[in-house]
Amino acid sequence: MQQKIATVLLGLLWLVALASSKSLSNPLADNEDAKLTVPELIVKYGYPVEIHNVTTSDGYIKEVHRIPYGKRCGPAEGKKVIWLQHGLLGDSSNWIVAGPEKGLAYNLADECYDVWMGNYRGNTYSKRHVSLDPVADKEQFWSFSWNEMGLFDLPADFDYVLNFTGTDGLYYVGHSMGTTGFWVCMSEHPEYNAKIKLMSAYAPVSYTQHMISPIALIAPFNGEVEWLLAMFGLYEFLPSNAFMDLIGQTVCHQNSTIKDICSNVLFLVAGFDSDQMDADLMPTIMGHVPAGASVRSLVHYAQGVISGLFRKYDFGRAGNLEIYGQVDPPEYDISKITAPVALYWGENDWLGVKSDVYRLAEQLPNIQRKYRIDHDKYNHLDFLWAKDNVQLINQQTIEFMKNF
Ligand SMILES: *[C@@H]1O[C@H](CO)[C@@H](O)[C@H](O)[C@H]1NC(C)=O
Ligand SMILES: *[C@@H]1O[C@H](CO)[C@@H](O)[C@H](O)[C@H]1NC(C)=O
Ligand SMILES: *[C@@H]1O[C@H](CO)[C@@H](O)[C@H](O)[C@H]1NC(C)=O
Repeated sequence: MQQKIATVLLGLLWLVALASSKSLSNPLADNEDAKLTVPELIVKYGYPVEIHNVTTSDGYIKEVHRIPYGKRCGPAEGKKVIWLQHGLLGDSSNWIVAGPEKGLAYNLADECYDVWMGNYRGNTYSKRHVSLDPVADKEQFWSFSWNEMGLFDLPADFDYVLNFTGTDGLYYVGHSMGTTGFWVCMSEHPEYNAKIKLMSAYAPVSYTQHMISPIALIAPFNGEVEWLLAMFGLYEFLPSNAFMDLIGQTVCHQNSTIKDICSNVLFLVAGFDSDQMDADLMPTIMGHVPAGASVRSLVHYAQGVISGLFRKYDFGRAGNLEIYGQVDPPEYDISKITAPVALYWGENDWLGVKSDVYRLAEQLPNIQRKYRIDHDKYNHLDFLWAKDNVQLINQQTIEFMKNF
């Protein structure tokens, strides 16, 4: 019992420390790439960029970033369209901060893909709504988890990009929650399966039973954690980048002698791999992430740690009866995810744990590939910016997509 309480307290402390980071100022910011927006960064590195606004059927306005062509091939009709979807606490910067040589978005543009990068509701680029204000109406605005991202965000994104480009299908790469939203979308709106040429799932997350991370620590608290955080007025998880900026500019300074500690502390949430950690990128990365998330997205994952099931949000007995007409939340029907899927997983991933990934793989009806990244310490965030990603993952993905 004491251990359980200690665990809960630790989880809460972690949440509150990160969530209250808003008040810290950042007098030391001196890294240009940390401060540029995603479109500004893309322009800086010599690629064309477009900004699109997509409005969901429930009123969220999301910014989408497009790199229509790369350095080896110009604009053309009928290019292959690819959608990149970031994970928890991430944004479209995840696909470009590694720079033009290693960033997946740039590599794909140079392979002649028409690259679109989504931003889920609630992150840096998608804090807008047709009628709700993220601050004044915070309780309503932030009452979503990745369930709503799969139900509303991705269908709106897909409709928009398919219409805009005039193509009948797209390639999809999702990381972490970018995969979770995809599973929700395809199981709840099965008509979208036919529009997906190949889903490349990086660090796939559906079942979270074996998750090892502070998200798992909040699990014993279940519904109450959200209530508690709501008391603090924290509907939004991680309201600002200021705290991370501060760490990024001080502890993780390029010349700092304690860079390793920095990566230890920061990467506690998602696993740690010093081999593939590019310390020089840290100030830039931390200028962009964490990019904002709702508390409910974390709680929803934590619920899966306890239930061992991949199912809808648990509102508690009374809430569930009212919303679902049953005591327990319904499970997502994985058998409806008929789009072709390639799974990419890391041995040292604390969030997309091998046993959970394998359980998903057994139930997915159209598995094309189950690929273990060829590096023993490869972790959850390595998928985005590990030193050797061109060989470890980018080329793997691009080569395999040629079959579809
Ligand atoms: C997207 O929305 C913003 C804010 O309303 C607006 O300034 C911008 O012009 C819009 N962009 C496009 C391409 O419609
Ligand atoms: C479809 O795309 C065209 C531009 O290619 C645009 O003019 C039109 O408004 C779009 N329709 C919808 C429903 O988004
Ligand atoms: C970091 O060290 C390099 C070489 O020692 C130096 O040129 C550079 O100015 C230093 N950067 C900062 C921000 O102190």
